[in-house]
Formats: sequence, C-alpha cells, structure tokens
Amino acid sequence: MRLTAHSSKDLTGTLAVPGDKSISHRAIMFGTLAVGETHITGLLEGDDVLATAAACRAMGATVTRVGDGEWRVDGVGVGGLKTPEAPLDFGNSGTGVRLVMGLVAGHNITATFIGDESLSKRPMGRIVTPLSQMGAEFQSREGGRLPITLKGAEHPLPITYASPVASAQVKSAVLLAGLNAPGQTTVIEPAPTRDHTERMLRAFGATVTSEAGPNGEQVVCVTGQPNLSPCPIAVPGDPSSAAFPVVAALLTPGSDITVTGITLNAHRAGLYTTLQEMGGNIEMLNAREEGGEPVADLRVRYSALTGVEVPGDRVPSMIDEYPILAVAASFAKGPTTMRGAEELRVKESDRIAATVAGLEANGVSYEEFEDGMIVHGCRTDTTTGAVPGGGLVITHHDHRIAMSFLVMGLAAQNPVTVDDDAMIATSFPSFVPLMQELGATLHLENDA
Ligand code: S3P
Repeated sequence: MRLTAHSSKDLTGTLAVPGDKSISHRAIMFGTLAVGETHITGLLEGDDVLATAAACRAMGATVTRVGDGEWRVDGVGVGGLKTPEAPLDFGNSGTGVRLVMGLVAGHNITATFIGDESLSKRPMGRIVTPLSQMGAEFQSREGGRLPITLKGAEHPLPITYASPVASAQVKSAVLLAGLNAPGQTTVIEPAPTRDHTERMLRAFGATVTSEAGPNGEQVVCVTGQPNLSPCPIAVPGDPSSAAFPVVAALLTPGSDITVTGITLNAHRAGLYTTLQEMGGNIEMLNAREEGGEPVADLRVRYSALTGVEVPGDRVPSMIDEYPILAVAASFAKGPTTMRGAEELRVKESDRIAATVAGLEANGVSYEEFEDGMIVHGCRTDTTTGAVPGGGLVITHHDHRIAMSFLVMGLAAQNPVTVDDDAMIATSFPSFVPLMQELGATLHLENDA
C-alpha cells in the first residue's frame, strides 16, 4: 500500500526501536547449533528474522516464541542439522539466506533456497565460491542467483579465504561452514566489517580470533568442531532502525527525542559519527555493555546540518545507512560526498539508483557515480533548507528506501509518498506507530 509522510514539527518523546536484525538472525542460528536451550530477549520479530526461525525449525531445531521478543531455541549441536523437507524461503533477506547457506554447506544435508523478487536478483557467487572450496556443491540459475540447491560437504574442508568484498555476510557464511570442519578456517576481509558473529560465537564457547593485518585487512579465524553451549542473548536496539527517528528529529524543527538501548558497536555506528560531523546534536547517554555489545541511549535535537565528505574507510560501518544519510544531506548546507560504496548497488535494491531517483522526484540535486553520490543540500544562508518534496518514490522492495523517504516527507515542503509500505515489516514492523507516537504525520493512502 502507498504511504505518505506530511510536514511535521516538534517530534518529542522517548522510544525503543526493535532488536538488532543482524544479532537477531545470529541468535536463532547459533542457538540452533548449540546443544540445549538458548533464551533470547529483545528479538526482532520482523519478516527477515522469522524466515530464519522457520528455516532453523525445518532443519531440526525447536524454535519457540514465549512472549514479546522472547524466544527459546533448543538446538541440535554442530553437525546435527537435518535435511529440510521443503525449500527454505528467505523472503527479502540476504543475511538469512547467505548465513544459512554457510550452515548447510558444513553439513552433509541438501537444501533448496528461494526468496522474493528482490532476493532472487542478488548475487550469490560471493558465497558459492568459498563454500565450494570447502566441499559444498551448488545448482543455481544462470548467474548464480536463487533458487539454489546446495548439497553440503560430507567432509567439510577448513580453508583460508581472502574475500574480495568487505562483507560480514561472506565472512559469517565461511566461519559458520568452518564450525563443522576439522582445524582452522580463516577469512581475510579487505576491511573490518560488523563482528557480531565473532562476538556471539565466543559467547557460545567457540575459539575465534581476529587481528588487523598490515594493509587495513582483518584476519578472522575459527577453530572447528567446538561444542557450542547455550548462552542467554539480550538483543540490543538496532542502530540501522534508530537511524530513521534520529534523522527525523534532526530535520524537523523543535524536535527533542531519546532513543533507548541502541548498540553502538564501532562497526555499526558510522552514521552517527557522520551526523555529528554535520553538526547534528546527538548525545550518547548511559553508555553501558549489554549482551556483549556496547549500548547507549541517544538524545537527538533539531539541528542545522552542513554537508561533509564521508571518508571511504567508514563505508562498512554505515553500509545500510546511505539512503537515510542522503535524506539528511538533502536538508544540509553544501554538498555531502559519499563514495567508495559500490556495494550499495547489490543490496535489497540498487540503493544508489533508488536513492537518486527519490532525490530527483523530490527536487533535490545530486551527482551519481558508480560507487556513490554527491547530494547538494537545499539549505543556504537565507533559507532553512526544506527540500521541495511532493514526489512519489519507488521503493523496489527495499525497506530502507521506504523509511528514508518517509522521513524526508516529515520535513519537506510538500508530502512525500512511497509506492509500497510492505517491506518495512522486514526490519521495523512498528515503524509507523512509533513515528506517529513521536508526532509524525504518516497516512496510508486509503485513510489519508
Ligand atoms: C549484514 C551485513 C551487511 C548488511 C546487512 C546485514 C549482516 O551486508 O548490509 O544488512 O548481518 O551480516 P554485507 O555483508 O553484504 O555488506
């Protein structure tokens, strides 16, 4: 359904966003590989994570919802997965499908993986290459796209794999396959990426090392065939979801909000550093550690932003936040340069193309590059920087495109409409009611 955001002011209040998506997927998967019961609180109950839960159930784990965000996983142990009877449907979720391919590759079982239109276009070769070296066999459509049937290795081989892309999904898939291989499996990533897999595997009792190499690369190594023991997981708030209310508050005059319990893991917090560099008034309060991750509350107030150049080495720590940064940059003074982010072309949509099309539809000028964009902000010395708005944005089945441009509509001169709200449920099912509680005006087309 179409959803429209109208000019809003004074967003105020305190909110908790849902649990982190990356950590939620891993909590279900690692619980599946442990022997005994893993208790999870704060799990993100979005479509992506529910698809992972269904896949783990189909491979033998008992995965039970016991309350709001509270789940129990009774695992089968490393080596204990069984062949699922039907294809595993991952919907829109790249993380779910790629990490579970890692699990299956290290087991002597066969599974077929399917997904929605967006997921069926995304490249899987980056996973197929290393997992084939470990002994898994793949049958796929031309170009290595879903549907894929994967026959896991009877005797998985530990490998050392230098990944050409800085991708936590690739790293995690290889490490997960390596869990059932004898000896050490090593991934060399060209730049460090989110380390939730490493942190959580250690918490479950595996031996995982991670060291910086001499040229910016990160060398991560897991020792195979551990006995994983259940560990309670308290999933912190998702910084990628918090980004939407945070930017909304920065852009709408009079706003003052607090978002509680967000993980500020250094590999995830790049957007917040960038927004502060732009002049965003964001305070990190009550810094603490929860569930093995650094966590804080964010107090955010309306701010006049100035464009910046985002350093190339910050890309992995804000890879999912470029669409919302482009929206913030639209209201800033001067240009904001975002380069070195060619991975955006293969996310849930081509996020460079989808973002600049949204800017175009709403009267913001930009330059597009293969690896990013420059956004020319609308604020000048004499104007407050409101962008014209009034556009219809095509989301291409991408939740972050939808939420980013709805945030634009809250501060633009004219309403902004997104063509389809369905995918918001993959990562942030409570987005609309939570934003409305803060004072945002959001209407579905049929109740506008
Ligand atoms: C994720 C890794 C990132 C990110 C995705 C979640 C993860 O993808 O974009 O939303 O949980 O490992 P890449 O590893 O492909 O960069």
